[in-house]
Amino acid sequence: MSTYQALVLGASGAIGAAFLKHFEKDPHCSLAVGLSRPKSSHADLQFELENEESMAHCAAALRNPSGPYGVCEFKWVIDATGALTIDNLGPEKRLEALNSKQLLRQFEVNAVGPALLMKHFFPLLLPQENAYYATLSARVGSIEDNHKGGWYGYRAAKAARNMLLQTAAIEAARKRPLSVFVALQPGTVQSNLSAKFVAAQDALTPEDSVSQMMNALTHLKPTGRAQFVDYAGCEIPW
Ligand SMILES: NC(=O)c1ccc[n+]([C@@H]2O[C@H](COP(=O)([O-])OP(=O)(O)OC[C@H]3O[C@@H](n4cnc5c(N)ncnc54)[C@H](OP(=O)(O)O)[C@@H]3O)[C@@H](O)[C@H]2O)c1
Repeated sequence: MSTYQALVLGASGAIGAAFLKHFEKDPHCSLAVGLSRPKSSHADLQFELENEESMAHCAAALRNPSGPYGVCEFKWVIDATGALTIDNLGPEKRLEALNSKQLLRQFEVNAVGPALLMKHFFPLLLPQENAYYATLSARVGSIEDNHKGGWYGYRAAKAARNMLLQTAAIEAARKRPLSVFVALQPGTVQSNLSAKFVAAQDALTPEDSVSQMMNALTHLKPTGRAQFVDYAGCEIPW
C-alpha cells in the first residue's frame, strides 16, 4: 500500500482540526502532523504567525532525523491559519472605520504570517511527485468577485495572501514542477471565526467542508500557477 505524510498548520482551528482528523483517519496516511500556536508553557513544536523564528524551529524539527517525527516529506501541507476578528476588532464596514493598526494586523495575520509559513514549510513537500501546498483563503479575497464591499482589511489581506501564493507557485514551477499551489475557499463553515457573522445552521460543518475540499484538491494537477478554488472545486477569479 502506498502511503503519504500530511502537515496541517493551524490544527487547533475548526477547519484545521477537521483536516487533521481527515488525514488521521486515512489508512494511506502514515503520518499526520498538526501544528498550532502555543497554548501552554510546554510549547515545543508550536508557532506564532507573528514569529518567524518559531516557524523555522518547527520546520527544522520536521527535517531532523532525531526529531519527534524523523525526516518528513509531506504530500500535503495545509495552512488553515487565519482570523477575521483580531484584537477584538471585527471587520470594517465603512471607509471612515479604517485605521492603520487594524489594517496592519490583518496583513500580519492573514498574509505575512502565511507567507512565512510557506517559506519554511513548502520546502518540506515531496519534490518528485504531485504534492500540494494549500492555503485557506476566502472568496472575499477575490478582487473581481467583490460585489458587496466592506471587510476592507480581511479582504485585502486575503488578496495579498493569494498574490504571495501565486508568486511562490511561479517560482516553484521552475524547480519543482510537480507542486500544486492552491488558495482554498472553504465555504461558510461553522467555527469561532464565523460564529459572530452567520448562524450555525446556515454554515457547513468543518468535516463536510474538508471532505469536499479534499475531493476538489485531488482533482487538481500541477499547472505552473496557483489555483483559486472553492470547496466544490469551482474556480474563483483572482
Ligand atoms: N469559517 C469560515 O466560514 C471561513 C470562510 C472563508 C475562509 N475561512 C478561512 O479558513 C481559515 C480557517 O478558519 P476557521 O474558520 O477554521 O477559523 P478558526 O477556527 O478560528 O481557526 C483559525 C486558526 O488560525 C490560528 N491562528 C489565528 N491567529 C494565529 C496566530 N497569530 N498565530 C498562530 N495561529 C493563529 C488559530 O489558532 P488558535 O486556535 O490558537 O486561535 C486557529 O488554528 C482562515 O484562514 C479563514 O480566513 C473560513
